[in-house]
Amino acid sequence: MQIAIDGPASAGKSTIAKLVAKKLGYIYCDTGAMYRTVTYMALKDQLPLDDETTILQHLSQLQIRFAPGDPEQRVFMNDEDVTLAIREPDVTNNVSQVAALPGVRTELVERQRDIAAKHDIVMDGRDIGTTVLPHAALKIFMVASVSERANRRYKENVQKGIKTPLATLEAEIAERDRKDSQRKVSPLRQAADAIRIDTTRMTIEEVVAKILALVAEKK
Ligand code: C5P
Repeated sequence: MQIAIDGPASAGKSTIAKLVAKKLGYIYCDTGAMYRTVTYMALKDQLPLDDETTILQHLSQLQIRFAPGDPEQRVFMNDEDVTLAIREPDVTNNVSQVAALPGVRTELVERQRDIAAKHDIVMDGRDIGTTVLPHAALKIFMVASVSERANRRYKENVQKGIKTPLATLEAEIAERDRKDSQRKVSPLRQAADAIRIDTTRMTIEEVVAKILALVAEKK
């Protein structure tokens, strides 16, 4: 069984996907973490972010690993634990540019399909229902208003001691959505057969329950 969860930045996809996967005993794959890891590598190695050839050469030597079922959802780039580094603002604000490179997408989509071939899976991203797993049994397109998404990110940041102003977060989220929706290769789109869930006024528990009910209908 494959469950695809797509949607714009900070709509709650990964929080929900993790909980749904845990309830079902499926693995969870965060494809955004893969694009973030490639971006982190390019910044660390000081590669120009529009130099696709060089980025692909480096990517071919790069292992991106998650331990399935790891409660902390750690991400490794070769042997380096990059779990926290890939959430830094520098990566967040550059990832859409790297994710727009067609060759990077081809390579990561192949790796994502390999992971999905081996397990029952909940996979989240931007193009899972449209491109990566077009035959997924259940496709969810999760949305929430920009102000609600910025609010949620703001609260998370406060807990981590990060003090980015709310207005800045809102502008960054809107800009990332714009870039992800307008790129040429597999832009952020709702698949024709995806079910849209607007989480603006829903609790996490309500969204999880709704998805589990949809899964039960498919079984
Ligand atoms: O999900 P997350 O916000 O961590 O994703 C980071 C970025 O990775 C997105 O803004 C997008 O540019 C890219 N991405 C993508 N396709 C996916 C998942 C993420 O292009 N399937």
